[in-house]
Amino acid sequence: MKQEIKLLIKNAFDKLNIECGEIDVSFSKLPELCDYQSNCCFALSKQVAKAPFLLAQDVVNSIQSDDYEFLAVAPGYINVKIKDEKFSKIANQFLNDKLLGVKQHDKKLRVVMDYGGANVAKELHVGHLCSPIIGESVKRLYKLLGHEVVSDAHLGDWGLQMGLTILQLKEDGYLDYYFNGTGTEPEITFELLNVSYPKASARKSVDAEFKKQADDYTKYIQDKLEPYYTIYKKIRAMSVKTIERLYKELGATFDVWYGESSCADITNDIVDIFVKKGLARESEGALVVDVAREGEHIPLPKQSEDEEQRYKNPMPPAVIKKYNGADLYATTDIATIYMRNQEFNNPDEIVYFTDNRQSLHFEQVFRCCKLAGISPESQKLSHIGFGTMKGKDGKPFKTREGTTVKLEDVINLLIEKSSEKLKSNGLEPTRELALQIGIGAMKYGALSNFVTKDYVFDLDRFLCFDGKTGPYIQYMIARINSILNKSQEEIGDIIIEGKDERQILMDILKLNSSYYQCFEEKSMNSLCTSVFDLASSFSTFYNNHKILTEPDEQKRKSYLAFITLVKNVLTQALYVLGIESPEKM
Ligand code: ARG
Repeated sequence: MKQEIKLLIKNAFDKLNIECGEIDVSFSKLPELCDYQSNCCFALSKQVAKAPFLLAQDVVNSIQSDDYEFLAVAPGYINVKIKDEKFSKIANQFLNDKLLGVKQHDKKLRVVMDYGGANVAKELHVGHLCSPIIGESVKRLYKLLGHEVVSDAHLGDWGLQMGLTILQLKEDGYLDYYFNGTGTEPEITFELLNVSYPKASARKSVDAEFKKQADDYTKYIQDKLEPYYTIYKKIRAMSVKTIERLYKELGATFDVWYGESSCADITNDIVDIFVKKGLARESEGALVVDVAREGEHIPLPKQSEDEEQRYKNPMPPAVIKKYNGADLYATTDIATIYMRNQEFNNPDEIVYFTDNRQSLHFEQVFRCCKLAGISPESQKLSHIGFGTMKGKDGKPFKTREGTTVKLEDVINLLIEKSSEKLKSNGLEPTRELALQIGIGAMKYGALSNFVTKDYVFDLDRFLCFDGKTGPYIQYMIARINSILNKSQEEIGDIIIEGKDERQILMDILKLNSSYYQCFEEKSMNSLCTSVFDLASSFSTFYNNHKILTEPDEQKRKSYLAFITLVKNVLTQALYVLGIESPEKM
């Protein structure tokens, strides 16, 4: 529509022999007056030496349209109103369109998305919520807009935590079977790892000998030495089962379940590329790549005031081999880009979703890949660094005892709270329904926030049935379902005539356009706002209209078609947000 309006205005300028360039048209800031507006006459008034208002009048007088009403308004706006017939035509078109009026991008991108990133041997906690939620949603958005996406869970399964865990388990006597051939094969459970890993992690900071040994163990695993490698594989398999179950509950889906270890066989070759190209140098036994550019500095200990500069734009070198020859996080990430380019034939874009504390890491990895030609120049490498989840007190979200909250406990809490809520509304919810509502509430709360900002995890607010929340929108869909189920009548053609219907149509247009805004910003907050606006306009319409008891058959059938359209648009938007739309609630 915006394009149609732009074209009509442009043609009018052509008729007036005025060179106008690109015309700006936006949704109206005063929806009571009009649907769209253009401010183009202000900029052009100088060029033609005419007051903006007079110019706007000339333009409006030169436009002939059956679909829109144009009006010149002082001091120089062009206001545009969509005629009811045009609105009706669009509504019917959308209803019959598989994508409900969302236009796909002309250029189809091939994209790899890296989200999830759960670490093997460590239990998932609340900090692991955002990556699968945001990543899944951005993936669905890209697909809706016609792009081809491969999603990878990229498990953290090749790092120091593995060495630490195995060393600790061994010291605590759980691994005698493997190391001394005594006793029976132990069962390694998450309960066990939940004790071993934190214990080892705390110890490594105060016990240098222990840390050194854990480094060695990590290297043994990476060299596939026995029994380390067998134990590693057992821990990995056990962890992955739990991770899969939790991601499933969160509604995060992956095309491939690779991990850091998937590129283990090529990391040495990749490091060689840097050595051969003269990009790597030795530093304290490790291999590093200088990635700083003009004006950036490798931070060194400050020795004099003159070195102040060094602290202004620090860009430390990327470490690609550890002092003992082991791979690090950067090594596997660089090798993974190499692998992805091989396997997926140089995708147009690779997008990563982690919290913003990893920004420097990704910047270094991306620069390394460009320097070494591992990533073609045209390939876009992006990191979406999101903010931190805070408790209601504004501090990082913790249990009452001050420990991190387990992801499993968050899910259980969501189920419990949404069950209570549903019960108080007179329903007897199944676990599945409670999960759909609870997860929906949390996702909507998380995605409503601009992606890079910190946000407050406030379950009670997220679960409100009558605020800007996930359950509110789910409830509107369920309401429409219930009307449609009661009716059993064939739906008719949509005829738009009243103010409430026009408002809904406008909200649908805005919602559809918010998909593009989200795509640009890689943040879903504007979609969250638009889907809420549509749900509340529907609520107004519902309060003001009798649908099932409307005596005029044509009108009644039009209403039924219209609310079907609303339901489909809401459902599609929730789907993109990764939120289920339960039939009833
Ligand atoms: N495992 C990492 C972490 O817990 C996240 C992985 C993100 N993806 C990547 N390719 N580095 O922080």
